[in-house]
Amino acid sequence: MSVDWSISFDEKIMPKDMQNAATPEEYIKYHANSVRDYKAFWANIASELEWFKKWDKTLDDSNPPFYKWFAGGELNASYLCLDRHIKTGRKNKVAIIWEGEPMENGKPKEVRKITYNEMYREVNRVAHLLKNRYQIKKGDVIGLYMPMIPELPIFMLAAARLGATFCVVFSGFSSDAIAERMNDAEAKILVTADGAWRGGKVLDLKSIVDQALQKTKTISKVVVLNRTNNKINMTDGRDELFDQVMKDIPVNTYVEPEKVKSESPLYVLYTSGTTGKPKGQVHDVGGYMTLLHATMKWVFDIHDHDVYWCMADIGWVTGHSYIVFGPLMEGATEVMYEGLPVFPEQDRWASIIERYGVSIFYTSPTAVRGWIKGGDQWVKIHDVKTVRLLHSVGEPLNPEAFRWLFKHVGREMVPFGSTWWMTETGGIMISHVPGLMMVPMKPGTNGLPIPGIDADVVDEDGNSQKQNERGFLVIKNPWPGMPLTIFKDPDRFKEVYFSKFKNVFYAGDYAVRDPDGYFWVLGRADEIIKVAGHRLGTYELESALMKHNSVAESAVVGVPDDIKGEVPVAFVILKQGAQPNDTLKNELKDTVRKTVGPVASLKDVIFVSKLPKTRSAKIMRRVVKAVAIGKPPGDTTTLDDEASVEEVKNAYAQLSGEVGSS
Ligand code: WTA
Repeated sequence: MSVDWSISFDEKIMPKDMQNAATPEEYIKYHANSVRDYKAFWANIASELEWFKKWDKTLDDSNPPFYKWFAGGELNASYLCLDRHIKTGRKNKVAIIWEGEPMENGKPKEVRKITYNEMYREVNRVAHLLKNRYQIKKGDVIGLYMPMIPELPIFMLAAARLGATFCVVFSGFSSDAIAERMNDAEAKILVTADGAWRGGKVLDLKSIVDQALQKTKTISKVVVLNRTNNKINMTDGRDELFDQVMKDIPVNTYVEPEKVKSESPLYVLYTSGTTGKPKGQVHDVGGYMTLLHATMKWVFDIHDHDVYWCMADIGWVTGHSYIVFGPLMEGATEVMYEGLPVFPEQDRWASIIERYGVSIFYTSPTAVRGWIKGGDQWVKIHDVKTVRLLHSVGEPLNPEAFRWLFKHVGREMVPFGSTWWMTETGGIMISHVPGLMMVPMKPGTNGLPIPGIDADVVDEDGNSQKQNERGFLVIKNPWPGMPLTIFKDPDRFKEVYFSKFKNVFYAGDYAVRDPDGYFWVLGRADEIIKVAGHRLGTYELESALMKHNSVAESAVVGVPDDIKGEVPVAFVILKQGAQPNDTLKNELKDTVRKTVGPVASLKDVIFVSKLPKTRSAKIMRRVVKAVAIGKPPGDTTTLDDEASVEEVKNAYAQLSGEVGSS
């Protein structure tokens, strides 16, 4: 756990002019009612969506923890995001304002404004392509390894239209990571591009895919979009150019949206877990769309006149939920930006807010900390007064970052929250809900659980933890948007999330609840680290290190970083004969970057001769981490390891002695 900031439970700030201001007690009362009969509560929200067939049962809980929300109901996510708006007068409203990264004469070189009607047409054409050229049908999986361009949501919606399942791989992952995910998901085709713009450079997506496909078993076709005019190799019989295969599909093509069951899979998204390979989180249609509908209203207070911008990458869950399905279902106008928010200068993000008059801005602590470091002058040269609502996600929001954005963009008057959730939860779980009832903000807090979500902080035995005491974050009732399972591994789903505490979802985060009932998520309680908000498993990084001939064993831990929140540091035991020098350090860093992807950059490699272990041979991560940070591990042995205080102390002394002398 890397958070070490001075938070204040007492500081309360109320945004200006809130029509729905409430005290924490008022909200807690409302919330308690919503969870008392949570099934009826959620059924009410779900009935605001358009269903082809109404559900037979709000919640099929006959086989926990494999819950089916709105069982028997039929709907289609692509229909909800497109067809409905075409019929209801949003036809020519702009859905996506897309801005490419490259600049020319101080202006973005490419801007595309795509209306709902245009999205609808493109999604229909692509659905036609998938269905007829590649024989994709209900239940098939397609892989997407793409830049942040409108064709990514278009492919996602086209797959959803057919009732097919899509699996997006973040473009900062390597060929090994793609192959592993595509093999597990048994994807039939993979869609990619010649390249992606990132920080003024072209990321060579297609050649990464070429390497990945040497190791995949199920992919027969690769569709390649042209984004960067990058030179690429095309493999005969396998690779096809998007422009080529689309050119004869008429603009008025219509593909009927499949009536899919509420509990059928919409997508699989792989997340890093504590051990073993990444887990394919499978999300349903009905529950997921219901949660997104609710949170778009409560958390983002979305309205037709808004310009909404979520800065995430679609390769992660935030983009799935709050760039693609949430805002489009609500018929919003949203900004989608391709590249680095600080390219070519620190003010790119603020210039985007100004250019399009962004009113709702969803960002991340890492981004904000970077802007703080860049200096206040950059935000001051832009008019960002259109912003009326802010939220953050991905990692704990430190009070300094809260204060800076609240002042420079929020003019010390708009609602600003830190939404807690995870890939597994599908959507936001703990947050301020300015669209519903606004309780005072506190810099750094996550606020209170949203209506219908029974979250708690518990001790090791699963009992509610005392106020102000650290414990484990859990969710005590099933919720719409929860995963159906881990793809092809239901046992693991049960074990990872529902075995630590009986019948309760274990999130893997540490949290504290303050006297007002506010939650403060402090960081991970397990072997997951969040680097710049990106979720990485230490196990994945350790496996990558093992690929190098010189490595006998390793332990990777996250250490605090001023900008990125956390960064990984590796402790490595070398094989006999290997020389512990800087060249080898760089080679090891390179191996990890190549194996996992550019997203995984080791900050440091520390050579040691021994790693501290418990009696059952588990690495004492807390000790390794304490040494990495240069602070003793503290006197308690609670929570994560089975060693005694004495053993922990000895292990710490030994390892830090060794590191200190090396
Ligand atoms: C962390 C991202 C504190 C947390 C949506 C969680 C946060 C993990 C916050 C999930 C927040 C996310 N405050 N911590 N507002 N939001 N986290 O799956 O540790 O990439 O368990 O989903 O991010 O990461 P994931």
